[in-house]
Formats: sequence, C-alpha cells, structure tokens
Amino acid sequence: THVVTESCIGCKYTDCVAVCPVDCFHEGPNFLVIDPEVCIDCGVCVAECPVEAIFDEKDVAPEQADFVQINLRLTRQWPLITAAREPMPEAAAWAGKKDKRGELVE
Ligand code: F3S
Repeated sequence: THVVTESCIGCKYTDCVAVCPVDCFHEGPNFLVIDPEVCIDCGVCVAECPVEAIFDEKDVAPEQADFVQINLRLTRQWPLITAAREPMPEAAAWAGKKDKRGELVE
C-alpha cells in the first residue's frame, strides 16, 4: 500500500485524490489517509502531492513509520473523499512546517 505522511497535515492539497483510480482516500479535518485495502499501489498520487507526503509503505522514512498504522486506523474513522477540493486556507504556511504531527486532528 501507499501511505500519507506528516507533511500533508494542515495542507490537504487533494491533488492525490484527483488522480486516484480506485478512490482510496479518506478525509479528516486537516489530513488525508489511504485505505490499505483499496490502494492498488499504482503510485500515480506520489508525484502529484506538492509537499511529497505520499510514499510506498516500504519507502516510508523510519521517523514516519507510525503513519502506516495511522492511515489504517483513520481510514476506518473518516469518510471517503473522491473529488479534489480547495487546499486548506493556510496550506502554503503549513507546507513549510516541520514536526507538525502533534497538530493532526482526529
Ligand atoms: Fe495531502 Fe498531498 Fe494529498 S498534501 S491531500 S497527500 S496532495
């Protein structure tokens, strides 16, 4: 599966959603996750994300490894998103932030 990691927090550009052929994204207040049971590992979303938030599970950096479980858990909690929408209002500012995982709103 592919995994959405920390840099998506506060941004939600949703370019990933626009290209996903299987509708595997679920949306929370300030973050998106990928349903590992639906993702077909086509990888088209990876290059679309302006903040490089999406990785193949096997390429996730060690310090982002907990996002594998976060994607699995929040997929069950959040609704499907099937069409791109406007990024979050402060997306540009959030794009440059580091260590923002504490800001993830469930
Ligand atoms: Fe998030 Fe990037 Fe998609 S910021 S919503 S993973 S395009």
